[in-house]
Amino acid sequence: FPQDIVELVQSHIREVNDFPAPGVLFQDVTPLIADPVAFKALIDILADRYRGKVDAVAGLESRGFILGAPLAVALGVGMLTVRKAGRLPGPVVGIDYDLEYGSARMELQPFTVNDGDRVLVIDDVLATGGTANAAFELIEAAGGHADTLCVLMEIGALGGRERLAGRTVDAVLTY
Ligand code: PRP
Ligand code: MG
Repeated sequence: FPQDIVELVQSHIREVNDFPAPGVLFQDVTPLIADPVAFKALIDILADRYRGKVDAVAGLESRGFILGAPLAVALGVGMLTVRKAGRLPGPVVGIDYDLEYGSARMELQPFTVNDGDRVLVIDDVLATGGTANAAFELIEAAGGHADTLCVLMEIGALGGRERLAGRTVDAVLTY
């Protein structure tokens, strides 16, 4: 990513210790999305990068929705929601996975995925890769092609990129 967007994102992230659990260093993107100039600049850059290359954007609940929806509109494609268990009316496909803290289940409505569509997965942070890996598997189970994850921040030490071996990980910032 261009240096100006890297610096823009970096300067609008808050690092919060021991949230949401002791020992976790939380990367808070709310200052970035609260800044109209920075948020638009980010979406414009992402749209330039993926224009013509994807048929849908899949946002991961919760903050992936905030990033994914404006990107999908900018790209002229649909927005898919990969959600925590029990939030979507069926039919859904679901998968359980381990988190940096605890475990979780993500679900997707398979009828929202067109057969063969190239789906870009987007989220705020890549940590262990459990969430993103679940999303890739759900999209593929629903008939889509998902091989790229876009995140604002990758926490390199947690091994997410290795867990997603064979996929492309585009991270604006890496720690
Ligand atoms: C955080 C973050 C990513 C995920 C990354 O979400 O927003 O979605 O963890 O972790 P992983 O790579 O180890 O799976 P969180 O579970 O805190 O939920 P939220 O986005 O709804 O706050
Ligand atoms: Mg999340």
